[in-house]
Amino acid sequence: MSLHDDRKEYQFDQLDDGAKSLNPMVLFKEWLESYRQTGAADATAFALSTVGEDGLPDARIVLLKDVMDGALVFYTHYTSKKGRDLAHRPKAHALFFWREMERQIRISGSVIKVSEEKSDAYFHSRPPGSQRGAMASNQSEAISSRAEMETKFQALSEVPDEALHRPAGWGGYALQIERIEFWQGRPSRMHDRIAFTLKDHRWDAQRLEP
Ligand SMILES: Cc1cc2nc3c(=O)[nH]c(=O)nc-3n(C[C@H](O)[C@H](O)[C@H](O)COP(=O)(O)O)c2cc1C
Repeated sequence: MSLHDDRKEYQFDQLDDGAKSLNPMVLFKEWLESYRQTGAADATAFALSTVGEDGLPDARIVLLKDVMDGALVFYTHYTSKKGRDLAHRPKAHALFFWREMERQIRISGSVIKVSEEKSDAYFHSRPPGSQRGAMASNQSEAISSRAEMETKFQALSEVPDEALHRPAGWGGYALQIERIEFWQGRPSRMHDRIAFTLKDHRWDAQRLEP
């Protein structure tokens, strides 16, 4: 079967020129809520791209946990590959693909750590198993076997739930949005694209050719 024949027409919705006068953060939250309401699994997942010290781009999926003050918040290990990339170059790209609504959102900006208090609050809102998993993992480091991982995890089962603590190397990042592009699939590849760029604290909107 040829991959050439895999194609579809996009006709779920449209993005009129009027969208250029909208606040993109409001539009982002509207699209996010509509997508969550479809019941799609992992609706808040996005591909987070960073650039390594070697200059190579790298991407992985993370979960969006908050949208605050024009920033996307996600949680991870600060000592992971992505954490090291961000320590070296605090810039990132977030890519959302919402297939059921034929939408794509591309976001880029600078990244900072969220406050210790916010990371603590989110860490303790997670199920105890996830807290233990974060404590047990030295994310992105090589390990000899699955068994060694299990041993580290099992050792934490002796720690009561109330005594679990957020590791210093685990917490949140806020990707401060400097550019956001909304893509809505349209028939005949005449897709709608509206890009907003932050200039002097104001959003500058442009329609882009498909
Ligand atoms: C659906 C899904 C959700 C994920 N959510 C997170 C997350 O919120 N935080 C995280 O650190 N890793 C998450 N991961 C794992 C990452 O994709 C990645 O494997 C891990 O963060 C290590 O990446 P790094 O070595 O580039 O730092 C998720 C993976 C998938 C498939």
